[in-house]
Amino acid sequence: MDLAFFIAPLAVSGISAVLAAVISISDRILNNYGDVAININKGKKSVTVKGGAPLLISLSEQGIFVPSACGGRGSCGACKVKIDSDIGPHLPTETPYLTKQELSENVHLSCQVKLKTDIEIDIPESLFNVRQYDAVVEKIVDVTHDIKEVLIKLPEGSEVSFTSGQYGQIEVPPYEKVKEATQRAYSMSSAPSQKGYLEFLVRLVPGGIVTSYVHQYLKEGQRMRVIAPFGEFMVRETDATMVCVAGGSGMAPFKSIFQDRIDRGVMDERDIWYFFGARTKKDLFYLEWLEELQSKYERFHFVAALSEPQPEDDWTGETGLITDVLGKYLTETMPKGDVREGYLCGSPGMLDACMNVMRKFGMTDDKIYFDKFA
Ligand SMILES: Cc1cc2nc3c(=O)[nH]c(=O)nc-3n(C[C@H](O)[C@H](O)[C@H](O)COP(=O)(O)OP(=O)(O)OC[C@H]3O[C@@H](n4cnc5c(N)ncnc54)[C@H](O)[C@@H]3O)c2cc1C
Ligand code: FES
Repeated sequence: MDLAFFIAPLAVSGISAVLAAVISISDRILNNYGDVAININKGKKSVTVKGGAPLLISLSEQGIFVPSACGGRGSCGACKVKIDSDIGPHLPTETPYLTKQELSENVHLSCQVKLKTDIEIDIPESLFNVRQYDAVVEKIVDVTHDIKEVLIKLPEGSEVSFTSGQYGQIEVPPYEKVKEATQRAYSMSSAPSQKGYLEFLVRLVPGGIVTSYVHQYLKEGQRMRVIAPFGEFMVRETDATMVCVAGGSGMAPFKSIFQDRIDRGVMDERDIWYFFGARTKKDLFYLEWLEELQSKYERFHFVAALSEPQPEDDWTGETGLITDVLGKYLTETMPKGDVREGYLCGSPGMLDACMNVMRKFGMTDDKIYFDKFA
């Protein structure tokens, strides 16, 4: 038999082994980026970190928390940071989340930027106020068949200074669905006056990592990490009529906003129309509270609508999609000619459809504020 028959495979495997060793050594050499300096907001702050890790992670290890609704998986687009130095072209994983303007301004997804050399970045000053809290779950209440109200107690002496409408990132530990601790964004449903506590409304997304954990395993008395506050969804202090629309756990920021206005004694200082859409009566919650507010405050109007009312629901309120009900009220019931601002929270599909209705009635995008729960 030809000797080459035996030698050829040995030679190939030998070359492969040498190549693997070379790649491994060069990888170690190449990946040893040493210390990297991050210059933030033109010298306002500067930190030195070990190179090689994603910018998002390195910043969080230094107590600077950039929003991250997907825990760094490159699937939420929340972790945008403007980079003032040249770090090369955008990765294909970043471009779907960046507008043309952001691309031209060198905005990047911080979870996709691997720190290799010194870097200069620009972040909103408000991020310097974001903190991580190791809280304890105080109370869990089922407010519907798929939404839990979760109240957490912050460590003794801590409080989160936030504006109603903002959100926090809650973290669940590794469990059978996920190997590492995982964070997602949840709007605060408590008012800022409730010092020492934060409340969230968590709707179960079937198969979802964080919501499945919260619904199946989270117990009162358990520790829970929260990072807060984040976000720009907040009430603009004008006299404009507030046209608010929510569905499901989109109720959360509005509960906080209305309670905050009550606490500050300004609930009746402007007109508020709150439209809440649900499928059936079992998806409605906080009805009593909202109806009580409507009878107490002349300028607060609450409209709940069911898209699929069941015979046993005995529903005498509005029916149909919340978009149609919103259109009907804008046409028939709400005063004409007033200045309006839109505030929306909930699923992206519902929000897009409602924003189209608002635009049809002359509301402009610069006066429509929203958080898409995606
Ligand atoms: C700013 C902001 C505020 C938010 N506030 C709230 C809040 O107050 N309450 C709340 O319940 N949620 C809120 N969310 C949504 C939340 O962050 C999570 O996306 C959601 O809870 C799903 O997380 P998960 O880990 O369970 O699912 P994942 O493991 O992330 O997702 C599992 C699967 O479900 C899909 N999916 C994700 N979200 C949805 C959805 N909403 N409906 C249908 N399918 C989905 C994903 O595409 C994926 O295929 C908010 C999101 C943002 C960006
Ligand atoms: S953290 Fe979600 S895309 Fe970067």
